[in-house]
Amino acid sequence: MGQKRIGILTSGGDCAGLNAAIRAVVCRAVGTYDWEVLGIRQATQGLMHSPPQAIRLELENVDSLRVAGGTMLGTTNQGDPFAFPMSDGTRCDRSEDIIAGYHQLGLDAIIGIGGDGSMAILRRIAEQGKLNLVAIPKTIDNDVGVTEHSIGFDTAVNTATEALDRLHFTAASHSRVMILEVMGRDAGHIAITAGIAGGADVILIPEISYTIANICHKIKERQEQGKNYLLVIVSEAVRTEAGDPVVITNRLGQCRYGGIGDYLADRICACSGAETRVTVLGHVQRGGTPSPLDRLVASAFGVAAVDLIAEEKYDHMVTWQNRQVVSVPIPEAIAQYQAVDPSGTLVKTARGLGIYLGD
Ligand code: F6P
Repeated sequence: MGQKRIGILTSGGDCAGLNAAIRAVVCRAVGTYDWEVLGIRQATQGLMHSPPQAIRLELENVDSLRVAGGTMLGTTNQGDPFAFPMSDGTRCDRSEDIIAGYHQLGLDAIIGIGGDGSMAILRRIAEQGKLNLVAIPKTIDNDVGVTEHSIGFDTAVNTATEALDRLHFTAASHSRVMILEVMGRDAGHIAITAGIAGGADVILIPEISYTIANICHKIKERQEQGKNYLLVIVSEAVRTEAGDPVVITNRLGQCRYGGIGDYLADRICACSGAETRVTVLGHVQRGGTPSPLDRLVASAFGVAAVDLIAEEKYDHMVTWQNRQVVSVPIPEAIAQYQAVDPSGTLVKTARGLGIYLGD
């Protein structure tokens, strides 16, 4: 097999396990195939620069990456390269600069680690520049189609579950309603998975509608059973009863989900009189040491992605299906958004446990 020089970049929001995937790519590409691996800084932005911003990744530097949170390469979820924000306030298509950066580095192929949005962008650039792209899915939201696991999801679920475990005791001590607001963007995977594991009494996800009256009915039902507290987990993208999204505009003018916990608290308190508190878990779900499962998935994906390059099977994404790594064409992966299935096992399990999950 001939010598290759490959690039690797992380794109979109960070999560735990990205570094474990970078390590696996280096182990396989350098250790097995004796290729060269260049780590590209700050997602595609590293390729826009001239000279491109990249570092050579060696076997001796990657050992501790297995446990390190974040991404050693940096990343961004800002700045679509096709409408890149320039310093003078205008927007500019920088895709050709990225293609030029790939060639300037002399890359034979590139591995992009990203969520569905990043993957769509990377694929468009690869198609335009005829670049050899292989993709690895990552996102705490776990909403990339076709794959059962994306890197980062399991760690986020562990963090949210631990938060519920902690809230449980303080809720019981004070006879309170405790609301935990978690991330997940447009899908409720973190909320439903952590909610079941962490013993929530109410799980609210964007895929299923709810009523405040039925949440208050749940409080009453529990009181009749001699239970004086209620644990609620709500996904950030859950809407108001009227169907409006709850969003905040941050200091940079960016619009993000946020505030559904407070919305619910006000209404639950007004309707039931229960003392209610809100915890917004936020970026704690993205940071920290990856769970063993995320390390495993990241390692398997990293090795398989390099093997795809060895086979010259480009325009494919590695996925986790039935305990196996399977590669699928990237267009197939990004064509299917993976929301929580309202008639799936998790929903049935939650309802079977007596959890209020909406109507
Ligand atoms: O997509 C990952 C994610 O963490 C979402 O769950 C969340 O809505 C969003 O990113 C937060 O983005 P930012 O880091 O820009 O605040």
